Amino acid sequence: MRIIIEKDYAGVSRRAADFVEALLRRKPNAVLGLATGSTPLGLYRELIRRHKDEGLDFSGVTTFNLDEYYGLAPDHPQSYHHFMRVNLFDHINVPGDNINIPSGTAKNIAKSCDDYERKIREFGGIDLQILGIGSDGHIAFNEPGSSLASRTRPKTLAPETIRDNARFFGEGEEVPKFAITMGVGTILESAACLLLATGKGKARILAEAVEGPVTSQVTASALQLHPHAIVIADDEAASCLKRRAYYEHVERVSSGFGGES
Ligand code: F6R
Repeated sequence: MRIIIEKDYAGVSRRAADFVEALLRRKPNAVLGLATGSTPLGLYRELIRRHKDEGLDFSGVTTFNLDEYYGLAPDHPQSYHHFMRVNLFDHINVPGDNINIPSGTAKNIAKSCDDYERKIREFGGIDLQILGIGSDGHIAFNEPGSSLASRTRPKTLAPETIRDNARFFGEGEEVPKFAITMGVGTILESAACLLLATGKGKARILAEAVEGPVTSQVTASALQLHPHAIVIADDEAASCLKRRAYYEHVERVSSGFGGES
């Protein structure tokens, strides 16, 4: 794993945008895996800025999002379809037909999950998957105990996740208890994974994911098995990493290699 530590949230967002931009310059028809939540918002703002100010072009890009709440239609204000439109897609030039997000309302959920997996394969797989980490160590909505070989499927959300996500919902509004999510196995097939972690609240769980055992109890730890997993953390989120000094040393001295793993 490559661990990059930046001073603050803005630094993490810029650094993550550098990875996306480098990919798009090298491969204009790249397949991007995208996440929702608070963490990637700065990255999305930076990508929008680079699109508007510097002409970063998304016209050939295809996107696959990690997850969607079960039962929420695409136009529901708390749906991840809506989140992605408002926070990214409405402001860049990715064609609508190239956007893929799991359906939270498909009549045949199992079939729609299989179709999602098939479509990712048909596009040649995901080139770069953006990830956040949940306070229970989840990536996408792969809650503790999720199979590390899991594929896109419905998942029951953990009480911690429901509590964490309640901040996006109004008073009296019910937070969904289920989601449709890419599996850990799906994520691990991406050519590269970029996990973003910011803030003190993520420090303990990030250290478990990066330096603890690979376990389905902390599904982000499965990234240790990935040959091209990059973590970008801010100072606060990196504060519990035992080998922090070594990771910083690696970043200082090894840039000539073109990437540690
Ligand atoms: C979102 C997702 C989740 C979030 C995680 C962290 O699509 O898959 O795994 O990345 O819950 O959320 P934030 O960034 O809000 O702390």
